[in-house]
Amino acid sequence: MSALCLMENVKKTFSLGADLSVEVLKGVNLSVEEGEFIAIMGTSGSGKSTLMNLIGCLDVPTSGRYLLADREVLGLSDDELSELRNAHIGFVFQSFYLLPYATVLENVLLPTLYREKAASHVERRAVELLALVGLEKRMHFRPNRLSGGEQQRVALCRALMNDPEMILADEPTGQLDSKTAGEIMALLSEMNKRGKTVILVTHDAAIAANARRVIRISDGVIIDA
Ligand SMILES: Nc1ncnc2c1ncn2[C@@H]1O[C@H](COP(=O)(O)OP(=O)(O)O)[C@@H](O)[C@H]1O
Ligand SMILES: [Mg+2]
Repeated sequence: MSALCLMENVKKTFSLGADLSVEVLKGVNLSVEEGEFIAIMGTSGSGKSTLMNLIGCLDVPTSGRYLLADREVLGLSDDELSELRNAHIGFVFQSFYLLPYATVLENVLLPTLYREKAASHVERRAVELLALVGLEKRMHFRPNRLSGGEQQRVALCRALMNDPEMILADEPTGQLDSKTAGEIMALLSEMNKRGKTVILVTHDAAIAANARRVIRISDGVIIDA
């Protein structure tokens, strides 16, 4: 079976000015199989988010190879990248990124808006996802009426809406207290048990302990996979 994600000698350099650039990833090799539950750990500034953005095709490598679901990512157009993302990946971020003027239900429906009209089966799926995380009674609320943990549960439903193979979560519990963080981790574990590949960034060892594999990154290099 081929890997869901395969990186070979991936480097990422950001240019900071005419003749100033910084190499943030310095040759990453990484293979992720379908169904894995991985935590990426490292200190602040080590390159975790940069790596996650590459895995999720929010950005492309400066050099090296990256195959997502057997597609070579380097050289794809922006449209092709967003198609690849929509088909395979759901994202969860530290600061939730819910739309403040949309309802909970509308936020969950967001990933489907580009694809099809809000058909009744699409809305039914959104409501089912909200029920799964215990928020069906809040579906007509705006996000600012929810607690942080509830907002992150909405973001998780949104990530699941297109039924992606893979969920990428960059410090998803970074703004939550430990009990609420535990609830989000339980949901991510449940999604993994249901077959989703989960990759999570954290600097918290207790959070990382939920994963089945821990990858450590230091100064742009994977030191322990
Ligand atoms: N778009 C960018 N332009 C310039 N430097 C960046 C950019 N994104 C990240 N960096 C730098 O890359 C390094 C790693 O950042 P990041 O991947 O966000 O680390 P982490 O998520 O591990 O805290 C940091 O020094 C950061 O300042
Ligand atoms: Mg980060």
